[in-house]
Amino acid sequence: MNILVTGGAGFIGSTLANSLSSLNKVVVIDDLSMGKVSNLVKNDNITFIQGSVTDQTIMEKLFKENEFDYIYHLAAVASVADSVARPIETHDVNFNSVLLLLELIRQYNPQLKRLVFASSAAVFGDEPTLPKQEESVIRPLTPYAIDKFAAEKYVLAYNHLYGVPTSAVRFFNVYGPNQNPSSPYSGVISIAVEQIKKSIAGKEVAFTIFGDGEQSRDFIYVNDVVKALKLVAHSDESKGEVFNVGTGNSASLNDLLALMQNLLNHQLPLKYEKERVGDIKHSYADPKKLSKIGFKNDYTLSSGMKDYLAHVFDQ
Ligand code: NAD
Ligand code: UD1
Repeated sequence: MNILVTGGAGFIGSTLANSLSSLNKVVVIDDLSMGKVSNLVKNDNITFIQGSVTDQTIMEKLFKENEFDYIYHLAAVASVADSVARPIETHDVNFNSVLLLLELIRQYNPQLKRLVFASSAAVFGDEPTLPKQEESVIRPLTPYAIDKFAAEKYVLAYNHLYGVPTSAVRFFNVYGPNQNPSSPYSGVISIAVEQIKKSIAGKEVAFTIFGDGEQSRDFIYVNDVVKALKLVAHSDESKGEVFNVGTGNSASLNDLLALMQNLLNHQLPLKYEKERVGDIKHSYADPKKLSKIGFKNDYTLSSGMKDYLAHVFDQ
C-alpha cells in the first residue's frame, strides 16, 4: 500500500509512520516546526518531504506524483494554548490545509481507500456532561477546537457529498515517546518528563501547574492511538463517521504527577500558577463506538507510563 502521513515527523505521526513502514510505502510530509526527522526509523519504505501542508504548490506536486491508498492527516499546530496566542497562523494549518487536502484528493486521488483526519476531544469544550460520546454537545472554546470541529465536518461532508472515503477521530490526551517537550505549549506529560529528567540529573527545576492541578484528562498511550488509527482506516463501518479515541478513564494532573514520581521514586518540585484561558476542567471519553468496531486498549495509564518512562530512562 502507498500511504501518506502528514505531520509524520511529529509525535503521533512518526509512531504511525514507523509502524506502517514495515509493510507499506509511506510518504511523510512535515515542516519540522515540531517534528524531527530523527523520530523516523531509517527505512527504504519511508520517503520524507520537508514542506508545509498549506503550500499549494508542494501539495499539488505530491498528488500529481503519487496515488495514495490511505492518507492520515495529522499535521497541525497541536497546542490549544498556542491557538489562543496565534489564531490566524494556526487556522491556516488546522483548517485551511484540510480543505486543500480534500480538494486535491477529489481532483487527483480517486482510488483513495480512506482519509483519516485527526480531530480532538477539545471540540467538546467545557460542557460538563461526562463521559463524552460522539454525539455529546459540542462547545468549542478556542481557535484550535473551532478549527478541528469545522475541519472534521468538512472531512465527513466530502464523504457524503463527493464520495471521498473519509473518517475522523477525536483523540483525547495522547502521551508517549517522541512527544516534543520543547515548547511551553507542549503536551503536559512530555514537559513533566523533561523536568523530572533534569531534576534527577541534579538541576534546579520546578514544574508549573496551571490552576489547582485538579483538572482531569483521559490520557491514552500512543501505541493504542496508532492501533485505533489503523482500525478506523480499514473498517467499512467507519466510513463517513467520527470516533472518540480515549480510554474511558480520567486522571487529574495531581494524580498523574504523583504516579510519575512514584514510578521514578523522585520528588519533582511543583509550583502553581493561574489557570490557562480556554482550558477545559474535565474530559474523558465514552469509547463504546470505537469498541463496537473492534477496538480494545492494550495499556492502562500505569502500564503506559511505565513503558514510556522505560523508553526515556533506560536508553
Ligand atoms: P505534533 O506537534 O508532534 O505533530 C504535528 C506535526 O505536524 C509536527 O511534526 C509538526 O512539525 C507538523 N506540522 C505543523 N504544521 C505543519 C505544516 N504547516 N505543514 C506540515 N507539517 C506541519 O503533535 P501530535 O501530538 O503528534 O498531534 C498529531 C495530530 O493529532 C494533530 O492534528 C493534533 O491536533 C491531533 N491531536 C493530538 C492530541 C494529543 O494529545 N497529542 C490530541 C488530540 C488531537
Ligand atoms: C491536549 C493536546 C491537544 C488535544 C487535546 C485533546 C497537546 C499539546 N495538546 O490539549 O492537541 O487536542 O489534548 O484533549 O498535545 N498544563 C500544566 N502545566 C504545563 C502544561 C500544561 O499545568 O506545563 C495543564 C494545562 O493547563 C491543561 C493540562 O495540563 O490543564 C493539559 O494540558 P495539555 O497537555 O496542553 O493538553 P490539552 O490542553 O488538554
